[in-house]
Amino acid sequence: MVFQNVLWSKFLLCIFTQIISCSIDDLSLRAKKLMESTPLIDGHNDLALQLRRIYKNRISEINLRTINSTRTNLQKLKTGHVGAQFWSAYVLCSAQDKDAVRLALEQIDVIKRMCKEYEELEFVTSSQGIENTKKIACLIGLEGGHIIDSSLGTLRMFYELGARYMTLTHTCNTPWAETAGGGPHNFYQGRKSLSEFGTEVVKEMNRLGMIIDLSHTSSNTSREVLAISKAPVIFSHSAVFALCGIKRNVPDDILLDIKKNGGLVMVNFHTEFISCSKYANISTLADHFDYIKKVAGPESIGIGADYDGVTGFPEGLEDVSKYPQLIQELLIRGWQDEEIKGVLRKNFLRVFKKVEKVRDDLVTLRPSEVEIPEGELNYSCRLDLRKFQQQSKKASGVQERSMPAFTLITYVMSCIYFRNYIIS
Ligand SMILES: *[C@@H]1O[C@H](CO)[C@@H](O)[C@H](O)[C@H]1NC(C)=O
Ligand SMILES: *[C@@H]1O[C@H](CO)[C@@H](O)[C@H](O)[C@H]1NC(C)=O
Ligand SMILES: *[C@@H]1O[C@H](CO)[C@@H](O)[C@H](O)[C@H]1NC(C)=O
Ligand SMILES: *[C@@H]1O[C@H](CO)[C@@H](O)[C@H](O)[C@H]1NC(C)=O
Ligand SMILES: [Zn+2]
Repeated sequence: MVFQNVLWSKFLLCIFTQIISCSIDDLSLRAKKLMESTPLIDGHNDLALQLRRIYKNRISEINLRTINSTRTNLQKLKTGHVGAQFWSAYVLCSAQDKDAVRLALEQIDVIKRMCKEYEELEFVTSSQGIENTKKIACLIGLEGGHIIDSSLGTLRMFYELGARYMTLTHTCNTPWAETAGGGPHNFYQGRKSLSEFGTEVVKEMNRLGMIIDLSHTSSNTSREVLAISKAPVIFSHSAVFALCGIKRNVPDDILLDIKKNGGLVMVNFHTEFISCSKYANISTLADHFDYIKKVAGPESIGIGADYDGVTGFPEGLEDVSKYPQLIQELLIRGWQDEEIKGVLRKNFLRVFKKVEKVRDDLVTLRPSEVEIPEGELNYSCRLDLRKFQQQSKKASGVQERSMPAFTLITYVMSCIYFRNYIIS
């Protein structure tokens, strides 16, 4: 009898675990199916930074399909069902007011070369480009407003090179926007929130159709931008302040502003941002998704994992092949297929299309010729053009003096004409 009971309970246990593992398998399959039909658009990956750091951007010496010194390679992107990736053209804050522009150009160069040399990748610059390609779409995000060297002309040229978002600050203030900090930098300490020139940068980005990224900016900068931007904005790689209270994360009032703005928080996977410690697991990360969904709705969520930009990732999400694990966890938590498709892809496409529409609506606006006020810039490493500009004022003075000569010629010509007139 006892023997039979043991058998019986073993049998029940067997069936029970069978059901559990069966449903897990089911959800794992469902996660993969969802990602196959709706490949992920990830908002932030720092592979290009690693290419510079480890290989001095010499990609001819490595195989990006199988490279394993980074968390990203092409095989893993495929396994992870990544359909589009914003590659970060990131420049260290220490290059501010020095060679930040050159360094950014070199990062754009390496991203473009990578996307051209590998047939798995295709460089695109529009929402349509993402939707049309059968390959992994490559897009560029500029990380750090210091990259434009306080120049709207420079901003426009980066747009022409294909940059489709700019993170207004990295871990340093620029002359025109305040950072959430995190770095040791001492630049422009007096800067609070967004300056008047900063609002001009925001307007110009709206006009160009460049997405504004508020990751790394101070809360006050974010609030200011949300109050004036005509287009939706994103946090390309940030998590929730209420769950891990660091300045790099998004507080509740800004989550609500994002919902109103129609924008997106693309969730960062970094352990120190999601658990405020060196350890986290998939469940810790999924809490951030649940939280934003509760406060701002599932339409306000995306993914910007920050692979190769930081070191610590949750157990089970070590590299770019692991995204389906997260999707499975969201399914376990009862997320609907449509909500997950939004998180993976559709929410971002909505934002990008709206940004493009705002650009099209503003087509009659001319490029802004506003310059940053002189006193707000640190001229120490810039050619001081003020003398040159004074010289050209003098040069126009010379032209003024040449006016009498012109007048004289006109006078002689009209005399000749008049004399001819008299004669005929
Ligand atoms: C990483 O790549 C190197 C060189 O291609 C190879 O020798 C090594 O076995 C790889 N390691 C792993 C863990 O795949
Ligand atoms: C943010 O701006 C508000 C209103 O201008 C100000 O009172 C507050 O001190 C600012 N917060 C920080 C951290 O600077
Ligand atoms: C995830 O980590 C938390 C602690 O951060 C722990 O309480 C929880 O049990 C872990 N979950 C799993 C599934 O390992
Ligand atoms: C200007 O930059 C130089 C070099 O980085 C620095 O030493 C100086 O303190 C800066 N001045 C101001 C006003 O920020
Ligand atoms: Zn970053």
